[in-house]
Amino acid sequence: MRSLIDVLDLTVNEIDELIEVANDIIANPDKYSEKCKGKKLATLFYEPSTRTRLSFTAAMMELGGNVLGFSEASSSSAMKGESVADTAKMLSCYADIIAMRSPKEGAPFVAAKAASIPVINAGDGGHCHPTQTLGDLLTIKREVGRLNNLTVGFCGDLKYGRTVHSFINALSRYENIKIVLISPEELKLPNYVKYEVLDKNNMEYRETTSLEEAIPTLDVLYMTRIQQERFVDIDEYNRLKDSYILTLDKLANAKKSLAIMHPLPRVNEISVKVDEDERACYFKQALYGKYMRMALILKLLKEAEDKKKEERFSLDDVVINQYICTNPRCITSTEQELDHIFRCVDKEHNIFRCIYCEKRAN
Ligand code: NCD
Repeated sequence: MRSLIDVLDLTVNEIDELIEVANDIIANPDKYSEKCKGKKLATLFYEPSTRTRLSFTAAMMELGGNVLGFSEASSSSAMKGESVADTAKMLSCYADIIAMRSPKEGAPFVAAKAASIPVINAGDGGHCHPTQTLGDLLTIKREVGRLNNLTVGFCGDLKYGRTVHSFINALSRYENIKIVLISPEELKLPNYVKYEVLDKNNMEYRETTSLEEAIPTLDVLYMTRIQQERFVDIDEYNRLKDSYILTLDKLANAKKSLAIMHPLPRVNEISVKVDEDERACYFKQALYGKYMRMALILKLLKEAEDKKKEERFSLDDVVINQYICTNPRCITSTEQELDHIFRCVDKEHNIFRCIYCEKRAN
C-alpha cells in the first residue's frame, strides 16, 4: 500500500502510466464509470479549496465511488484539538482512501503514517502539491506534445507557491529542461529547491525580475498567485501583490506555441482578455487535473489491496530528536508529541532536513 505525499514518490514510468490511463479515461469515460463502485474517498480539507477538493470529488464520482469529508477545519474535530494522526486512524474505519489538504507542512505525511488506507497530499502549506503537478504534466503533454526539451518560466510567488516546488521537482527528471525563475527579490525560489533540485540535477536555470524579458524564450509560462495567506506582514503582501500581470501586450513577443498555465485561483495575474488567446491553457489544466486524480485514485486503490505499507524512504538515514524543526508552518509546531525526525539528504555536505517540511537543520 502506498500514499502520495510528494510527486517524487512516483517514478517517471509511473507518471507515464498515469498519463496513459488519464488519456484513456478521456477517450473512453464509460469504461471507468463503475471502477470504484462501493469505494469511498474522504476529503479532509483544513484549508480553503475550490478546484482541488471538487476535482477530487468529481474524479471519485466519475469512477462510480462515493465521497465524504469536510471542507474547512472549523467543521472538523481539529477545532477540538484532535491530532492529524488520530483523525487519519479514525477515517481509516470509514473510507478507502483519503485526500488531505492542510496549512501545516508535513500533515499529510503524518496522516499517511497513521492511516491504514492510502493518503493523497492535496497541498500542505507552502511545501508541495503533487496532484496539481500531475495535472500540469498531462496539460503539457497534451497541449505542447512533449515533456522533454522545454523552456519553462515560473512567474510570481516562487517562495510560497507549493505548486511551483512540486512542478520543478517533477521536471528535474526530464531531459533538457531549462527553467526561468521570474519573481520579485522577496519571493524567490527557496534555496532547498534551488540547490537540491536544480543544482543537484544540473538543470539550466536563471533568475530574473522581468516577465517581458523572459517571455520570448518560453515554451511554457506558469503564472502563480501571490500567496497572501502565507505572509506574516500584510504590508509586504500589498506591496508585492500586483508584481506581475500578464496582458495581451506582453504576449506580443511570445512564441505562437507557448502554453500559458496557472494552477488557479487567479487573482490579478492574468488579464481576462488573455483567456480568449489560444495559448491560454489554465482552464483545460483544471480539467486535466481531474483526469489525473482519477488515474491516481485507481492506482492507489489497486496497490492498497496489498495491505503492507511501503516506506517512502530508508529509516537508516534519519536522526530522531537530535535537531528541532524551527519552521512555524511545520506540523511538528502544532502536534507536540511528534518526534522531530531529520533525514540526511546530502552525505558529502552533511545536510539534514526535516522529514515533514524539508526545512534544513544545520
Ligand atoms: C493552488 C494551491 O492550492 O496551492 N491551487 C490549486 O490547488 N489549484 C494554487 C494557489 O492557491 O495559488
